[in-house]
Amino acid sequence: MCGIIGFTGILDAKTVLTEGLKELEYRGYDSAGISFFTDNGIRTVKATGKVSNLCDKVKEESKETAACGIGHTRWATHGGVSDVNCHPHKAGKVTLIHNGIIENYKELQEELAKDGQFPVSQTDSEIAAMVINSCYNGNPVQAIKDAVKKLDGAYAFCIMFEDHPDVIYAIRNGSPLVAASCEEGSVIASDMVALIKYSKDYFVLPERHIARLTKNEIVVTDMEHRVIMPKMLHVNWDVAAARKGGYDYFMLKEIHEQPDSLRNTIAPRVVDGLPDFTADQIPDSMFDGIHKIVITACGTAMHAGLIGKNMIEKLTRVPVSVEIASEFRYASPIIDEHTLVITISQSGETADTLAALRLARENGSKTLSIVNVKGSSIARESDYVLYTHAGPEIAVASTKAYTVQLSALYLFAFRFALVTGKLTEEAARDYIGKLEHAISIVEEVLSYDKQIETICQRLKTAEDLFFIGRGLDYGLSCEGSIKLKEISYIHSEAYAAGELKHGTISLITDNIPVIALATQENVLPKMISNIREVRSRGAMVILVTNAEVTVDASLCDHLIKLPAIADEFAPFAAAVVLQYIAYYTAISRGLNVDQPRNLAKSVTVE
Ligand code: F6R
Repeated sequence: MCGIIGFTGILDAKTVLTEGLKELEYRGYDSAGISFFTDNGIRTVKATGKVSNLCDKVKEESKETAACGIGHTRWATHGGVSDVNCHPHKAGKVTLIHNGIIENYKELQEELAKDGQFPVSQTDSEIAAMVINSCYNGNPVQAIKDAVKKLDGAYAFCIMFEDHPDVIYAIRNGSPLVAASCEEGSVIASDMVALIKYSKDYFVLPERHIARLTKNEIVVTDMEHRVIMPKMLHVNWDVAAARKGGYDYFMLKEIHEQPDSLRNTIAPRVVDGLPDFTADQIPDSMFDGIHKIVITACGTAMHAGLIGKNMIEKLTRVPVSVEIASEFRYASPIIDEHTLVITISQSGETADTLAALRLARENGSKTLSIVNVKGSSIARESDYVLYTHAGPEIAVASTKAYTVQLSALYLFAFRFALVTGKLTEEAARDYIGKLEHAISIVEEVLSYDKQIETICQRLKTAEDLFFIGRGLDYGLSCEGSIKLKEISYIHSEAYAAGELKHGTISLITDNIPVIALATQENVLPKMISNIREVRSRGAMVILVTNAEVTVDASLCDHLIKLPAIADEFAPFAAAVVLQYIAYYTAISRGLNVDQPRNLAKSVTVE
């Protein structure tokens, strides 16, 4: 969602801000703006559309030099896409950028109206600027403190006060903000991708603490004005990881990074051939007294849960339910201290997943999160964390984050089963061996690109499409379908193959593409019957099977055979095929794969 960058120091702030906003483009946005201190006060430039439009405007409209400023990419929530709604917003001496939603903005607006103060935009963010300005008496920290008492909702603010040149103030509640000091000054941003150029060492601004950034230092104080030292974190990737590195799109690069991401995620958890969570500081006592597991997440992360459930239940015989976080948080789930709630999130900031985690804690459940971004809200609020090591994922469509989430869930299943005596050491070693082997299979499937690119030419003009599968292949179908939908804009549905004939098969007519996943031997004969059902109604079938499966040529129009891999590990290989299908279909339709319309990388609103 909205991207934030702030800089004060010895570099040209306008360049730092616009370059930072380019790094943040992947988050999804529809307009952008910057404000910076000049000799004549704070100057603001805004533009709808791409950051490049903003850069052109900055060049045309402002020749001043600047050492300090704030910049924002906006993903519209309150008020349409227009210059006036674009951030930064100004109210009196206050200029501010905001990520999040102020839920009580209507009430606040009515209060301000009583004093004759009216906003010029339709945004909740301008109301926040007006509230801070109305609390301002020359002391920025006090004004922010007083103002946030009045604000309900999620926010990350960077604020400049007209009479405090070259200083940035920041505060957050729910929405992310990371900050770093470097030789050139002080930087703050909504995520590390914009910061990495300046420093690999950073801190997450603690919630409801105020950061004061000057060119020499960042001072963080709590609500009682006490100075606190935030916990420093370190990222182990560099600027190159956040660049395309010769690929046309980040998505393609990230698909190709999967073998490394899997290795980095699996290797630290294998000691002497056995699953081991010592380095994650997850004690075996975490597994004590668990009667039930709930996995909750959104989108692709939730789909990873559908696959993980199978392995966990199979090895531990503990029931697992997979819940959509936005539903779970408003249900009255039957969970207690004997429930382990696993939240899965690439960003670690997804609002619904975070709320689901908080609900789990309120109900006394143990919580474990599988998260990619270090120090993110979900990681910080969980009892235990299994970090995935995919590195930064820039493309909106999640690829490498998904396969590493699968690997983390499998490792969890192995360790749980081993600790509780459901798996012998020998069997655990065998499973680990198969998981490690899956990495080389993923590597092999990466070479299927040309074959899949050719097949995707047949999907180019499709308007509707179906993914079908049984068991693990049904969970995979869900993932294949969301991936295709989000970047190719083709309507698609994932169906449990046996369920089709209970209604949906009426939609299968001549040349409707059906992507049939048949990697699971235990349901293969049934799956083949289901494929015949759609084929006899005219469907164009693309069949994905395991190497050992022999199918007669009349069953499908195109056959994609995975290399030999144990059925339970086939999702790792099939995921790559599905990612390629989405990618090459979108490319054949001439679309911007990395930044699909209407979508944001990290969904920090409900
Ligand atoms: C789809 C996709 C989304 C995310 C979902 C959760 O390709 O990326 O469905 O998986 O928004 O995001 P995280 O994992 O950051 O919680």
